[in-house]
Amino acid sequence: MKKVRKAVFPVAGMGTRFLPATKASPKEMLPIVDKPLIQFAVEEAVAAGITDMVFVTGRSKRSIEDHFDKAYELESELEARGKHELLEFVRDMIPKSINCIYIRQAEALGLGHAVLCAKPVIGDEPFAVLLADDLLDGEVPVMKQMTDTYDYYRCSVLGVQDVPRADTGSYGIVDARRVADRLEQVNAIVEKPRPEDAPSTLAVVGRYILTPRIFHHLESIKPGAGGEIQLTDGIASLLSEEQVLAYRYAGTRYDCGSKLGYLQATVVFGQRHHEVGPAFDAYLKSLGN
Ligand code: G1P
Repeated sequence: MKKVRKAVFPVAGMGTRFLPATKASPKEMLPIVDKPLIQFAVEEAVAAGITDMVFVTGRSKRSIEDHFDKAYELESELEARGKHELLEFVRDMIPKSINCIYIRQAEALGLGHAVLCAKPVIGDEPFAVLLADDLLDGEVPVMKQMTDTYDYYRCSVLGVQDVPRADTGSYGIVDARRVADRLEQVNAIVEKPRPEDAPSTLAVVGRYILTPRIFHHLESIKPGAGGEIQLTDGIASLLSEEQVLAYRYAGTRYDCGSKLGYLQATVVFGQRHHEVGPAFDAYLKSLGN
């Protein structure tokens, strides 16, 4: 029985919605207070027992590799200045037990293509996909909820939530039938349908557990919505031979690919921050008066 040990982080996107901030640095490095989005996603994967982090990167993404690497200059500088607490903090930031693997996606041909780029390192195992700009905040980390679901049902699992019908054009939307609490059997899935065409309002958020059979389907599909090789179309094709489940995760999603979602996450995580939380909360209250 194979466990989910590997996670793919597609991080080659352009991040045009955050220009000029993302002109020379990746959107996944945007911080929520003091922690970059990509680190939230990696910590969520670690909490699910995942050990191998596969980053599918592109141009201008060097800072992601540096972030998960040892920072010699910074560490010796902090040591020389006697800043031991900060030094420990920087050293312990990334668990020692994880492996980081980087694959370069030369052309941004779509999310499905990015996932396909990870095939050589995933091999014949189930794996997770996490999109870092969906920041998921759950009492139990959402990927952990999903690996538990996978361990029980042994098939692909998609993280989903209901969205307003007007927003279906921003998501992969599933047509599904309830099978248990929080769990639906997927009959069909379509990428970014118009509200009037959407089969439901149940949207895929950026969390997936996929069986390795997905690669076979990603290899044979044609470009779909937006002229891109869509992961959604690969999953639609996978449905012809395997069961796929949609899991209504317990938690809150912040769409940090949008400015509004990013600001909302910043406020919520700012209020609960161990250092500045109380002062920030008092500030927000003072604005309300
Ligand atoms: C991607 C997927 C889409 C999914 C969404 C979740 O779209 O293609 O199916 O619902 O992520 O955030 P993107 O937001 O990259 O356009």
